[in-house]
Amino acid sequence: MRELLSRAEVVASGKNYVLALYRDDLSSVFPGMVRFRLLLEGAGRPVVLFSTNTYEYSPLLSIDAERAARQAAADWEAAILAAPGGLVRPDEPPSFHAEPPHGDVLVLQGSPRPDGSCAVLAKWAAEAAQSVGRQVEVVFVHDLDVRPCIGCYQCYNTGDCTFDDDMTRLAPAIRAASLLVVCSPVYTNTVPAGLKAVIDRAQAIHARDALQTGGPGAAPRGGLLLATAGRMGTENFSCVQSVVRAFMANLGIRYRGEVLVDDLDARRDPRSVPGLEERVRSTVLSAIRAPETTRSTGTRP
Ligand SMILES: Cc1cc2nc3c(=O)[nH]c(=O)nc-3n(C[C@H](O)[C@H](O)[C@H](O)COP(=O)(O)O)c2cc1C
Repeated sequence: MRELLSRAEVVASGKNYVLALYRDDLSSVFPGMVRFRLLLEGAGRPVVLFSTNTYEYSPLLSIDAERAARQAAADWEAAILAAPGGLVRPDEPPSFHAEPPHGDVLVLQGSPRPDGSCAVLAKWAAEAAQSVGRQVEVVFVHDLDVRPCIGCYQCYNTGDCTFDDDMTRLAPAIRAASLLVVCSPVYTNTVPAGLKAVIDRAQAIHARDALQTGGPGAAPRGGLLLATAGRMGTENFSCVQSVVRAFMANLGIRYRGEVLVDDLDARRDPRSVPGLEERVRSTVLSAIRAPETTRSTGTRP
């Protein structure tokens, strides 16, 4: 729901513009979330001059979103009146979701070891998907430059993250994949830090989908977890399972299953675990056959 908070007519370079400050109720996204947007209207498509939301402001701050937005509206009006010729169209936001990714099956290999047990599982998963004609991309997460999320909530203003790093390319690939396979070792009961950074930064995908559609992306998608642990016992995976499930649920990705391989401190090589390769391959193939992921090769949402 959008409400007009203020409206000011300004003349710049002989043209009439309107500076309009809107209040958008985003409580369907997060409880009590409100976004304020200052738009310049009157020159074709409105230009967003300033955007902020209530979740950006922690309780210790002496300013809140509405005051910041009203201040921005006053500042912009004064700046335009002072230098009418200086009104230029701001650049387009970074190409966060511009490039179509390759691979409609995306494998996130989350172990920092390029030749460890997760790498073996990732390879089996990729081969299984390729064997039925799927385009596959395996991403070695540890190679990426992905800064940890700083909780600025600015992605809920525009759908774009404030950082421009390797997540700029990975986010569209995660969003577009019909099947997302997360391979993760257990590190101190949870996922390794690099993978966690990707998971947290995927909040910007949630933001973009929420701003565009009011919920997770419309395209049906499935997800799998392939996880390995040194210790024996499935209880070692409980945190990894819950992190990866939450990650997928947040993006509207249906959790289609998992393969958990424990006791690798003793077993060492996953290739020596009886039936494991077949289990990974068949788990991937049945996820591909599931309704969410039956899109034909190369199709994008
Ligand atoms: C920093 C670190 C923390 C670990 N923490 C756990 C743990 O909490 N529980 C466990 O069962 N294994 C733990 N492990 C063992 C790994 O999960 C196991 O060796 C796994 O197979 C590694 O996968 P990879 O070969 O793909 O890297 C840890 C290993 C490392 C390096």
